[in-house]
Amino acid sequence: MLAVYAAKIGGDHPLANLEVGEQPRPEPPPGWALVRVQATSLNHHDIWTLRGVSGAPLTPPVILGCDAAGEVTAYGDGDTAGLPPVGSRVVLYPVVTCGRCAACRRDQWEACRSGRVFSEPPLAGTFAEYVLVPAGNLLALPEAVGLVEASCLPTAYLTAYHMLFGRAGLRPGDTVLVQGASGGVATAAILLGRIGGLTVYVTSRDEAKRQLALDLGAEAAFPQDRETARALIGLTGGVGVDAVLETVGEATWDLSLRAVRGGGTVVVSGATTGDNPPAQLRRVFFRRLTIAGSTMGTRGELASLVALCETGALRPLVGARFPLREAPAAFAQMARGETRGKLVLEV
Ligand SMILES: NC(=O)c1ccc[n+]([C@@H]2O[C@H](COP(=O)([O-])OP(=O)(O)OC[C@H]3O[C@@H](n4cnc5c(N)ncnc54)[C@H](OP(=O)(O)O)[C@@H]3O)[C@@H](O)[C@H]2O)c1
Ligand SMILES: [Zn+2]
Repeated sequence: MLAVYAAKIGGDHPLANLEVGEQPRPEPPPGWALVRVQATSLNHHDIWTLRGVSGAPLTPPVILGCDAAGEVTAYGDGDTAGLPPVGSRVVLYPVVTCGRCAACRRDQWEACRSGRVFSEPPLAGTFAEYVLVPAGNLLALPEAVGLVEASCLPTAYLTAYHMLFGRAGLRPGDTVLVQGASGGVATAAILLGRIGGLTVYVTSRDEAKRQLALDLGAEAAFPQDRETARALIGLTGGVGVDAVLETVGEATWDLSLRAVRGGGTVVVSGATTGDNPPAQLRRVFFRRLTIAGSTMGTRGELASLVALCETGALRPLVGARFPLREAPAAFAQMARGETRGKLVLEV
């Protein structure tokens, strides 16, 4: 089968590790399904994998890709009652836990130490014509939800949803600052924040991307400098925003801590520009801030996202589509920071 994989890991030129070629088509073991991938989307995670930054040891070749929507083609031996029938359209819930440890038995998915997403070995990635999926990670897609839009949901939209409504616990009328404007998670956070009745402020390093944020429904968009904290405090009655969604890391961490209100929450799920900014502990405890780590989200949250697409309330922003074979062009676009929402690969 055709696949997009890391043939090498690390080094100074991560994109040079990328190859498109044939890989063996897998057979589903008991409890697993084989899914024919029809649409899959790129995440910054795929660039981290090429760089060798991963939650699991990486031995090339590593098929990349965390997200997919497609069709169930076969199940391994065993009972398939209650599962989406062979031939039906599905989207993958991306978090795969061991199902056996003390955390899994208590339904605490975040605490399973063997938790993985697709492309983290031993799981293969979704940038391929077929992918093996634990049967419990399939979610049936309603007719009204397209495969391209569904392929955007599992990582970027799920992460943004969990950050906004799970970790920050935001409610209609609350204010939120999203760091970064044009990326997958950032555009998801703007769109979902508006659907959730939030006032969304955005920062971006680029004027055209600030305009994109406004077009998506942000209340205001700012450059990433200290003046922006003063502006946000002014816009919120001298207080600061209820929560900040931080994925940029070192370039914006100081601004995040300054712009959030006393007692507010900074939710962190990424560190694109570096993961070790000064912690500013005095600011954290004097102002009673909560720093909340966040990774992916729950299966129920993914089902809510599918339902939002089904009613038409949510339309994920897709900046460009590429055939699977042209994945390197999509990777290059993301590496240059030229995204406008999600980059989708069609199989
Ligand atoms: N923990 C999780 O579960 C999880 C899930 C998804 C993503 N993430 C992480 O979140 C981050 C974003 O992921 P993504 O897939 O949305 O990536 P992406 O589509 O490539 O977007 C990159 C984002 O980062 C911002 N950015 C990049 N470099 C920057 C810089 N030098 N200065 C300021 N802003 C910069 C961009 O803002 P501009 O609009 O200003 O260019 C853009 O919004 C990645 O680090 C990823 O690993 C984590
Ligand atoms: Zn477990």
